[in-house]
Amino acid sequence: MNNEFPQGFLWGTATAAHQVEGNNTNSDFWVMEHVPETVFAEPSGDAIDHYHRYPEDIAMLAELGFNSYRFSVEWARVEPEDGRFSTAALDHYGRMCETCLAHNLKPVVTYHHFTSPRWLISQGGWQSMATAEKFARYAGKVTEHLGDQIEAVCTINEVNIPRMAALMWMAGGEDESFIREAAQALHTTPEQFAPFMFAGTHQGRDVILAAHHQARAAIKAERPSLPVGLTIAMADMQALPGGEAERDRMRWELQDVFLEAARADDFVGVQTYTRERYGAEGNLGPQEGVEQTQMGYEFWPQATGATLRRAYEVAGIPMMVTENGIGTDDDGRRLAYYQSALQSVATCLQDGLDVRGYFAWSAFDNFEWMLGYRPTFGLIAVDRRTQQRTIKPSARWLSKVVQTNRLEQ
Ligand code: BGC
Repeated sequence: MNNEFPQGFLWGTATAAHQVEGNNTNSDFWVMEHVPETVFAEPSGDAIDHYHRYPEDIAMLAELGFNSYRFSVEWARVEPEDGRFSTAALDHYGRMCETCLAHNLKPVVTYHHFTSPRWLISQGGWQSMATAEKFARYAGKVTEHLGDQIEAVCTINEVNIPRMAALMWMAGGEDESFIREAAQALHTTPEQFAPFMFAGTHQGRDVILAAHHQARAAIKAERPSLPVGLTIAMADMQALPGGEAERDRMRWELQDVFLEAARADDFVGVQTYTRERYGAEGNLGPQEGVEQTQMGYEFWPQATGATLRRAYEVAGIPMMVTENGIGTDDDGRRLAYYQSALQSVATCLQDGLDVRGYFAWSAFDNFEWMLGYRPTFGLIAVDRRTQQRTIKPSARWLSKVVQTNRLEQ
C-alpha cells in the first residue's frame, strides 16, 4: 500500500489557550476553578507559561518538522470588557502568528476553545442568542487584526461538547453547591448559568450554531478567501445488535445535527479519541478486556478513520483531523496509537476522502480541564516547576512521518 500523504498536507500539533498559557484570570474557567466547592481537581495556575514561552515552543515544533500549528486566541484577553478590545492582546496573537510563519508553520487558529470572558456569562452566556452576535463581533476583530497571517480558522472548538456533557457526563445533575457558588461568582443565577460547557440544552446548541454561522460571515467579510470551519468531537459510535436505534438517536443528537450545520463551510475539523458501543439500553461503556487510557476511554485508534468516513458521509466537505491523541504515561502506547490512527487516515486518503491535515493532541502535556494536570496527552513533557520541556520518543517518531510525508508500515 502507498502510504504517501498528499503534497501540501498540513502536519501539526494542537493546543488551546487556557490549557497552556497560564493566568487566564479574566475567563469563566478561572473563576470556576477557584470557588470553594470547585469540581476542578486543581486550578490551571501558570499552566505551561506558553503565553511567554511561545517563541521557544514554536521553534521546538518547527525543529520536529511540523508545517502547521493549531492554537487558540483567548476571547477573555482580546475583549476584557463587553465591546472593549485590547490591541496589546491582539498584537500578542499577531506575534505568535509571525513566529509560526518565520518557522514555516502555517497558523490554524481557533477563536473559541471552551473558555469565555467573565462578562459574557453574567449576560446569559451560551444560552442567550445575544452571544452569537457578540462572538461574531469578536471574530471579525480578530480576523481584521490577524487574518492575513492565518491559514484557516476554527470558529468554535467542539460545538457539540455541551450537548455531550448534558446527555452523557452530567446526566445525573452537576454538583449543586458548585453551580450555586460559580453562578454567584460569575454574577448570574444557577438557572441562567451558561458557560460554554454548561450550555447543553437545545437552546444552547442553537446559540452555538448561530454563533458559528454569524462568525463565519464576519470573518468572510474581512477576508473572503480565508477557510473557515467548526470542529466537532466524534467518537466512533458503534451499535451492537439491537442497539441500532439508540445509537442512531444519540448520533443524531451528538454529531449529525452539527455536521449538517457545517455543510456550507470550507472544511470541518474532526476530533477523535475513541469509540462508544451502544446497546438497546444505551452507551455500554468500555468493553471488558480492551485496554483503557488515562481518561477511561478504550484504546481505539482506528476510530480516527471511522469518524472521518462518517463526517464525510454527513457533511460531505473537506476535512482536517484537528485533534487526535491519547492520555497515557506510557509513551510507547502513544506511539502505537499514532501509528494505527495515521494508518486509518492514510487508508481514507487512498479511498479518495478529502482530508487536508492532521493535528496531534497535544503538543505539550497541559491542563486537562476538570482533571487538572494528571492526564498527559503531550508529545513534549513539561516540568511545571522549572517549565523545562522534554521531547518524548513518540514525538521523534511522528517527526519522521511528518518529514518524509509518509507512513512506514
Ligand atoms: C478538547 C481538548 C482536550 C482533549 C482531551 C478535546 O475534547 O478539545 O481541549 O484537552 O479533548 O481530552
